[in-house]
Amino acid sequence: MIDLQDRVILVTGGARGVGRAIAEGLAAQGARIVIGDILVDAGQAVAKGIGGPARFEKLDVALEGDWARVVDGTLAREGRIDALVHNAAALHIGTIENTSPEAFRRIQDVNLIGPFLGTRAVVPSMKKQGKGAIVYIGSIDGMIGMNGICAYAASKWGLRGLAKSNAMELGRAGIRVNTVCPAGGNGEMFLPWAHTLTDMPEDVAFYLGNRGISGETPFSSIANAVAYLVSDASANVTGIDLPVDGGAASGCFMPGFNLA
Ligand SMILES: NC(=O)c1ccc[n+]([C@@H]2O[C@H](COP(=O)([O-])OP(=O)(O)OC[C@H]3O[C@@H](n4cnc5c(N)ncnc54)[C@H](O)[C@@H]3O)[C@@H](O)[C@H]2O)c1
Repeated sequence: MIDLQDRVILVTGGARGVGRAIAEGLAAQGARIVIGDILVDAGQAVAKGIGGPARFEKLDVALEGDWARVVDGTLAREGRIDALVHNAAALHIGTIENTSPEAFRRIQDVNLIGPFLGTRAVVPSMKKQGKGAIVYIGSIDGMIGMNGICAYAASKWGLRGLAKSNAMELGRAGIRVNTVCPAGGNGEMFLPWAHTLTDMPEDVAFYLGNRGISGETPFSSIANAVAYLVSDASANVTGIDLPVDGGAASGCFMPGFNLA
C-alpha cells in the first residue's frame, strides 16, 4: 500500500514528459508537490492542473543559487521536504567527434551536477527530520552502452555512482537514495533530433522492439516506480537501480528465435 498523504515532494523537470507524469502520479496519492523547471509557463500550467497545494518554482538545476532559493522557500512554507525526485535532464545525440567539449560539459551540468547540487541542498533538512527519500531518474543508457550518446550516457552512469555513494553515506541518517532507469520513449526529449529520427524508421522500430515487452515505456510505469521508492513501502530499499524498460537492459531480443 502506497500512502503519500501530505508528503512534501520536490520534482525537477516536472513541466512536461516523464516529470509531469511523476508529479501528477504522486499528487494523486496525496503528496504536496513542488515542481522545479526552467519552463515557466508549462510548469505553472502543470501545477495549476494538479491543483490543491501543488506549486511551481523556476529552477535551473545546474545553479546552486536556484536550489538554495527553492529549497529554503519550500522549507519556510511547508516545514519539511520528504522527498526529492531529480528527473530534469537534457539529451545530446552525437558521436564522440560530433560532441564538442562545451556540449559534453553542458549535459554533465544538468544531468549530473544538477542532482549533486539538489542532493546537497535537501540533505541537511532531511537529516534533521531523520528521514528522507531521494530518487534520481537515470536511464538504461546508464546501465548498458549505446552509440551516439557519449555525453548523455556518461552523465547517467555517473548518476548511478552518485546514488550508490549517497545511499551508503546517508542510510544511517534515515535517507534512502535510489535510481529509476527508464528506456527511451518520450519524444519531446528527442525533438531537437526529430528530423534525424524520422529519417531512420527501421532503426527506431528495431530499438523499440529489442526488449522483452516491445514498444515505448509508459510514463505511468515510471511514475509508479517512483511512488514506490519515495514511499514507506520501500523502507529498506536503498542504492538500487530499478529499470522500467520492458526488459531492454536485460538482454537482446532475436525475433526469429521465438519461432525456433
Ligand atoms: N525520453 C526518453 O526516452 C527517456 C529515456 C530514459 C530516461 N529518460 C529520463 O527521464 C527523465 C525525463 O525525461 P523526459 O523524456 O521527460 O524529457 P523532457 O525533455 O521531455 O523533459 C525534461 C524536463 O527537464 C527540464 N529541464 C531541462 N533542463 C533543466 C534544467 N537545467 N533545470 C531544470 N529543468 C530542466 C525540461 O524543461 C523538461 O521539462 C530524464 O531524466 C531523462 O534522462 C528519458
